[in-house]
Amino acid sequence: MSNDKKIVLSGIRATGNLHLGNYYGALSKFVRMQDDFDCRFFIADLHALTTHPDPKALHENVKHILAEYLAAGLDPEKNILYVQSDVPEISEMYLLMNMHAGIGELMRTASFKDKARKALGISAGPAAGEEEIEKEIIGNQSGKSVNAGLLTYPTLMAVDILIHKADFVPVGKDQEQHLELTRRFGRRFNSFYGTEYFHDPVNFNFGGQPVKVPGLDGSGKMGKSEGNCIYLIDDEKTLRKKVMRAVTDAGPTEPGSTPTEPIANLFTLMELVSEPSTVDFFKKAYADCSIRYGDMKKQLAEDILKVTLPIRERVLEIREDDDYLSRVVRRGAEQARDIAADTLRDVREIMGIRKF
Ligand code: TRP
Repeated sequence: MSNDKKIVLSGIRATGNLHLGNYYGALSKFVRMQDDFDCRFFIADLHALTTHPDPKALHENVKHILAEYLAAGLDPEKNILYVQSDVPEISEMYLLMNMHAGIGELMRTASFKDKARKALGISAGPAAGEEEIEKEIIGNQSGKSVNAGLLTYPTLMAVDILIHKADFVPVGKDQEQHLELTRRFGRRFNSFYGTEYFHDPVNFNFGGQPVKVPGLDGSGKMGKSEGNCIYLIDDEKTLRKKVMRAVTDAGPTEPGSTPTEPIANLFTLMELVSEPSTVDFFKKAYADCSIRYGDMKKQLAEDILKVTLPIRERVLEIREDDDYLSRVVRRGAEQARDIAADTLRDVREIMGIRKF
């Protein structure tokens, strides 16, 4: 890890097993970046607390994601791999950074509005229900509440990134707004204290567009809460069954027609996992109306398994090796803490916190 390499930082929230959306949106990019950049990847267990996971499940989730990182090919010799809560400097800087985060801008964040709406039982209105959310939160008529950790989620994420002074943050499209807030907090800190301490981190997509991985239910993206996921850890039988049950339509009736959303989604998945010639074959079959969805799904399942099965096998192996896992995170925590402590020392100094 030489000093002239650009710094990369990213993480995944520890809320359950990783699915194909996490893999193509984040993890596969991490793996591709590890040779060319100074990479730090972590497991966001503090962020997971915002949605109150079962304390018994949290550690298992962290362990599982760590095993998935390693199984997908992240090399602890090339990257710093760590667990967020192992780096207490992050929590301290989060407190400091909250002094410069506005309640209004945090409340207007899409992810906050989503989660707040769910917690308060407000349905998504055309104006995104902003006023209703605010009224409910301040008025507290319903007895339902939104925890402050959810509000300050973006502050914590900004600190994850700024504490490393990261250049690139490989994340999916849904995280762009958080990244924008990170830049804003960094710039605000700079201008408030008259320094040039932080610079702007940006997303990274290998020159392409951020991918949006669709689910199997015919509409929308793959997501844990949507119940439309293919997990890296799915066994062969489960995975085949899920793919064979994916939503389709009655089939094309006119040559050259545009696929409906469920079919377009299957093609999108196929483009991620299959050979271009395979995708071509089924696109032609769709165009001349000879396509059989059953055949297409069988092929799709086959090609997904080629990606996921080797990872699954390694995950099952690595998960059993507690010694190895703890060695990896202990070393990662040390490396991450060294970096984080330097930034925190500077930030405290800039803000006027001095030792006697
Ligand atoms: N918010 C991200 C997600 O839900 C996870 C995350 C937390 C993150 N801190 C980060 C991603 C810092 C990149 C950089 O996926």
